[in-house]
Amino acid sequence: MKNILVIGSTGQIGSELTRELRKRYGNENVVAGYIKGAEPTGELKENGPSAECDVTNPEMISNVVKKHNIDTIYNLAALLSVVAEAKPRLAWKIGIDGLWNILEIARENKCAVFTPSSIGSFGPNTPHLQTPQDTVQRPGTIYGVSKVTTELLSDYYQKKYGVDTRSVRFPGIISYVTPPGGGTTDYAVDIYYSAVKGEQFVCPIQKGTMMDMMYMPDALNAAIQLMEADASKLIHHNGFNIASMSFDPEEIYNEIKKSKPDFKMVYDVDPLKQSIAESWPDSMDDSCARAEWGWKPQFDLQSMTIDMLKHLSEKLLK
Ligand code: SER
Repeated sequence: MKNILVIGSTGQIGSELTRELRKRYGNENVVAGYIKGAEPTGELKENGPSAECDVTNPEMISNVVKKHNIDTIYNLAALLSVVAEAKPRLAWKIGIDGLWNILEIARENKCAVFTPSSIGSFGPNTPHLQTPQDTVQRPGTIYGVSKVTTELLSDYYQKKYGVDTRSVRFPGIISYVTPPGGGTTDYAVDIYYSAVKGEQFVCPIQKGTMMDMMYMPDALNAAIQLMEADASKLIHHNGFNIASMSFDPEEIYNEIKKSKPDFKMVYDVDPLKQSIAESWPDSMDDSCARAEWGWKPQFDLQSMTIDMLKHLSEKLLK
């Protein structure tokens, strides 16, 4: 029997992960953790328990974990890359001081912990093509610095205290439910909104800039499948590369044009986003995730685009 706490349950990934976990483990067994100002609404609020759970407040997290007898924590509290550059201290406070709090509580209460890392944990010196699982990680963003630290601190708690920490390096996540905010890969979500609304899309990322991306259903499966994986088969624990597609703005634009031939895109490159994008991999090698816990994505650019356009049209054009 699992009792799960999702911290950051109203965010881009959390809102859908909480719903999926409730589907798989039962509504009552998944607590939607939130911070003041980002309370759950609608289905997320009605279907199951929720609790205020601020990662910077260890007592608050500890009380929630004890009250609900939590054994698994999905820790999704974070600032994305662009917004973190504007608020580096806050990014660290949430990403690392917050993680420390969670790991300590997990140690005391014997909880397993999933804390995502990212393509942002790589940097300009990382091999960009088929980036290996174990390679140079010297990111130049505070987001990246906090993600490398997340991987290292999670490994440390696993080795030193036996806390069952696991994580993947998420690529840019694309979904039609909760929009991301302040990420470098956000353009690949925004472009679909413009296409469905019949508006011209102004792309902040230069033509030819490749980045790894993933459709939300695959991202949710990755997190849940890794947490359910047989521990004896894991060689790595934190920071698994996972990949399903990699494209530049022209490729996603041309894919959308197959369904929306009148769709127009122009470029107005944002220098900060562009420099971050250029420091990240063009494509990742995910063979360790495939071998150690059976990772296998379902969606590619074509099937994702069909599904995104269908669902976004239903959502925006009702
Ligand atoms: N989607 C994140 C960002 O762009 C990367 O993991 O910040």
